[in-house]
Amino acid sequence: MAFLEFQRVSKIYPTGVKALDGVNLAIERGEFVFLWGPTGAGKTTLVRLVTREERPTKGEIWLEECRISHLEDRYLPFLRQNLGVVFQDLKLVSEWTVLENLLSPLEVLKVKRGKALKVAREMLHFLGLEKKRSHLVSWLSGGEKQKLSLGRALIHRPSLVLADEPTGNLDEHAAQEMVGLLYEFAMGEKATVIVATHDRTLIEVFPARVIVLEKGKVIQS
Ligand SMILES: Nc1ncnc2c1ncn2[C@@H]1O[C@H](COP(=O)(O)OP(=O)(O)O)[C@@H](O)[C@H]1O
Ligand SMILES: [Mg+2]
Repeated sequence: MAFLEFQRVSKIYPTGVKALDGVNLAIERGEFVFLWGPTGAGKTTLVRLVTREERPTKGEIWLEECRISHLEDRYLPFLRQNLGVVFQDLKLVSEWTVLENLLSPLEVLKVKRGKALKVAREMLHFLGLEKKRSHLVSWLSGGEKQKLSLGRALIHRPSLVLADEPTGNLDEHAAQEMVGLLYEFAMGEKATVIVATHDRTLIEVFPARVIVLEKGKVIQS
């Protein structure tokens, strides 16, 4: 069994919209993949099925041999501890510093202060934000905020990273820098990374597997 598997997964919303239609997918550990398709293709729905913000109408989803589509709600915190999710709406606290924003997910996981500071320093270095560690988020540029949000998603070293349109509001240079960091993380940590995007330029620049989604169906994998 692959690291992540979708087996004949369909999602029909209560409105009657069929967002995913019989999706089969197998993604291996350490793979970096783009999930590419136009707006409305079902990319966000696919991501939300993995984070278990949604459940499939039909089919099964397996992550590391665990049938997450049918996982009881009380086990969801364990699932989510292994996930790193880069959100479109960043989820940063503007009146906190860069460092405070990086430390807060570690506090939730009850990592000791000394260890947390060490990990946060490594992440600042990885992101190239060392000099901005004491800056308030509201002082940062759009690209810097996006990088910080990436840092928050990666700081607990998840085995699976899901990034839904992580380059949404960035210019081409900043977008490629973001995806470059995700790429580097995948290689360095042997993590599986899934980047959902409608941006054709990105998939042309990075040599990676592309799963093409159209009207809820995988038309190329
Ligand atoms: N919560 C929801 N309720 C009803 N319909 C939804 C919901 N979320 C998405 N959809 C619909 O499902 C389809 C796929 O949407 P989405 O997964 O957001 O695609 P993408 O991320 O590729 O743009 C669209 O027709 C969208 O309008
Ligand atoms: Mg989307």
